[in-house]
Amino acid sequence: MTPAMLEKAASGAVDAGATHVEFREGLAEKLPVDDSWADVVISNGVINLCPDKMAAFREIHRVLKPGGKMQIGDIIVQTEVPPAAKEDIDLWTG
Ligand SMILES: C[S@@+](CC[C@H](N)C(=O)[O-])C[C@H]1O[C@@H](n2cnc3c(N)ncnc32)[C@H](O)[C@@H]1O
Repeated sequence: MTPAMLEKAASGAVDAGATHVEFREGLAEKLPVDDSWADVVISNGVINLCPDKMAAFREIHRVLKPGGKMQIGDIIVQTEVPPAAKEDIDLWTG
């Protein structure tokens, strides 16, 4: 996350009138919230970029309230992706 991304998100929240929204800078491996703070943790395309994925999942477990939920959107491959597929942008974009 860059400062420009934080500013853009904050600006978008103001434009949307979302006064209940707050943005905090942090890493998935060290979330800037207290233990048992969150009802829900969502992540889209972030955990697959974390070198230490177990640290990210430990943090999710730490910050979720008991019975809290997580929703993860990520790409997982279990076999080698052929070079031709890696180079075909249409396979990677919606
Ligand atoms: C594929 S983008 C997805 C962004 C957004 N979730 C979306 O759906 O548009 C991945 C984002 O993860 C961030 N990122 C990468 N590693 C991270 C980490 N360890 N902790 C937090 N964010 C990370 C990158 O800065 C980038 O903004």
